[in-house]
Amino acid sequence: MKLSVCLAALAAAAGATAKSCLSRRPAINPSPYEPRLPIPSPPKRHKVCVVETHGDGVTDDSPYILSAFHECNNGGHVLFPRDSTYLIGTAMDWTFLRHIDLDIQGRILFSNDTDYWQANSFRFVFQNVTTFFKLGGDDVWLYGGGTLDGNGQIWYDTYAANIYTLRPVLVGIDGLKNSVISDLVLRYSPQYYHFMANSSNVVFNNIDISGFSKSKNTAKNTDGWDTYRSSDVTIMNSVINNGDDCVSFKPNSTNILVQSLFCNGSHGISVGSLGQYPGEFDIVEDIFVSNISMHNASDGARIKVWPNAPSAMSGDLQGGGGSGRVRNVTYEDFTIDNVDYAIEITQCYGQKNITLCQQYPSPLTIEDIVFRRFSGKTSKQYQPLIAAFACSSSSVCGDIHATDINVVSPNGTHQAYCLNQDASALDVECTDLYKGFN
Ligand SMILES: *[C@@H]1O[C@H](CO)[C@@H](O)[C@H](O)[C@H]1NC(C)=O
Ligand SMILES: *[C@@H]1O[C@H](CO)[C@@H](O)[C@H](O)[C@H]1NC(C)=O
Ligand SMILES: *[C@@H]1O[C@H](CO)[C@@H](O)[C@H](O)[C@H]1NC(C)=O
Ligand SMILES: *[C@@H]1O[C@H](CO)[C@@H](O)[C@H](O)[C@H]1NC(C)=O
Ligand SMILES: *[C@@H]1O[C@H](CO)[C@@H](O)[C@H](O)[C@H]1NC(C)=O
Ligand SMILES: *[C@@H]1O[C@H](CO)[C@@H](O)[C@H](O)[C@H]1NC(C)=O
Ligand SMILES: *[C@@H]1O[C@H](CO)[C@@H](O)[C@H](O)[C@H]1NC(C)=O
Ligand SMILES: *[C@@H]1O[C@H](CO)[C@@H](O)[C@H](O)[C@H]1NC(C)=O
Ligand SMILES: *[C@@H]1O[C@H](CO)[C@@H](O)[C@H](O)[C@H]1NC(C)=O
Ligand SMILES: *[C@@H]1O[C@H](CO)[C@@H](O)[C@H](O)[C@H]1NC(C)=O
Repeated sequence: MKLSVCLAALAAAAGATAKSCLSRRPAINPSPYEPRLPIPSPPKRHKVCVVETHGDGVTDDSPYILSAFHECNNGGHVLFPRDSTYLIGTAMDWTFLRHIDLDIQGRILFSNDTDYWQANSFRFVFQNVTTFFKLGGDDVWLYGGGTLDGNGQIWYDTYAANIYTLRPVLVGIDGLKNSVISDLVLRYSPQYYHFMANSSNVVFNNIDISGFSKSKNTAKNTDGWDTYRSSDVTIMNSVINNGDDCVSFKPNSTNILVQSLFCNGSHGISVGSLGQYPGEFDIVEDIFVSNISMHNASDGARIKVWPNAPSAMSGDLQGGGGSGRVRNVTYEDFTIDNVDYAIEITQCYGQKNITLCQQYPSPLTIEDIVFRRFSGKTSKQYQPLIAAFACSSSSVCGDIHATDINVVSPNGTHQAYCLNQDASALDVECTDLYKGFN
């Protein structure tokens, strides 16, 4: 339907026509597992707010967005109509949202003003994360099939020139509860696609992520999701084409369900990195990951922990010396296709010198870890190895099980680097052959 017809019908409150401009809430069908908490199912909203746009590609539309969010908060439905483009040039705090549907059918483009964003984006402290906006509140449904475009190319190029460039995360979430985010297209994030902190009972469903650099400077650190200080989060039925973790569980992520994802080009589904900051206690527990198809990746399932000594991954990524625990993590039903390590556990993250890593073993405990039903073929990267299981000591790291690991390297081997492991619990051929970590 033409936008003008739709808007006229909404203005005239012309029932059926007006309704057909609005998206229905998408059906959320968890499979193979149900989340621990029921999917939120709030009553119908009773008011519609249509977000205006300047539509000229240069004028900041954020005042229109904020005014629609305020007008429709507490029981309304906000529509970003199809075929409209919104330019955002101001960092917006959306943590006041309550009982609201955000129906994004159009396209939201973040401005390319890297100086403005570096000075004004929201700071999330952890790993210097910054975000374009901050989404939070209670009972928010976000859907509509529209696109959020992070205008990433300028950031990929700026970062290549200066690694201390603060690249915003596309979807920044702080303190979101009882909410559903579904049916969205996310493109060209400058950095992570989602960073979610202080949140609980949130479902992500049917999210389409992609964005490759068009220059020689690759799009780096484009994690699909990072969870932090959050619990009861479900991420499912999504397609992720990126260049860093497909999903990553950062400190204090508990009761997370990740299922039915197609990941291509990533660093796998990762716990960590943990133990990065001395004096902090990081907890990741009760994590269930199932039915993942992993292609062209560095890892399938991974747990990465810094050693108990300062180590450097790169100029802008250093750490080591922190404590904590990883407990009750299950990875099952993985299809592995051209992945460097199908499984990688390391307590030597950022430290290539294994002798040094063992001299300063991590105090961060790892226990009750299960990998089951993996199949497919790795890449040649670490051939003949298909996996690495490395604990810096056996006193705090163990109880690691791998069963039905039907993964081979391109030349047919089934070996894994094992350090401080109970080899009888691992369905791989353990060896001392060390070929490195990711
Ligand atoms: C930034 O975007 C504006 C349009 O909003 C465009 O005129 C300008 O050329 C862009 N600058 C760069 C460096 O891409
Ligand atoms: C999360 O909540 C804590 C405690 O209330 C607060 O200090 C922090 O700023 C919040 N946001 C993030 C990103 O950690
Ligand atoms: C994680 O939880 C533990 C235990 O409650 C707490 O000591 C630690 O400060 C928390 N870490 C973060 C980053 O919130
Ligand atoms: C597993 O995930 C794929 C998408 O990668 C999906 O098509 C399939 O239905 C899922 N299987 C189950 C049992 O949910
Ligand atoms: C997977 O990623 C590669 C680049 O790493 C890309 O060429 C390919 O098109 C992607 N596959 C899909 C299905 O998008
Ligand atoms: C392990 O975590 C799962 C959720 O992933 C949960 O259902 C189960 O109860 C947990 N087990 C224990 C022993 O806490
Ligand atoms: C993996 O990457 C190769 C080369 O970039 C590409 O041709 C292939 O389609 C990718 N696989 C998938 C499943 O996208
Ligand atoms: C965070 O920023 C500080 C100051 O620029 C820098 O020293 C540090 O390396 C950065 N850390 C990360 C993880 O990027
Ligand atoms: C690795 O660490 C050990 C112990 O600290 C040290 O003796 C050795 O020289 C280091 N090796 C390299 C290659 O740096
Ligand atoms: C597999 O390849 C590795 C090196 O890529 C080689 O060391 C090993 O002997 C090969 N194994 C077989 C069974 O061909």
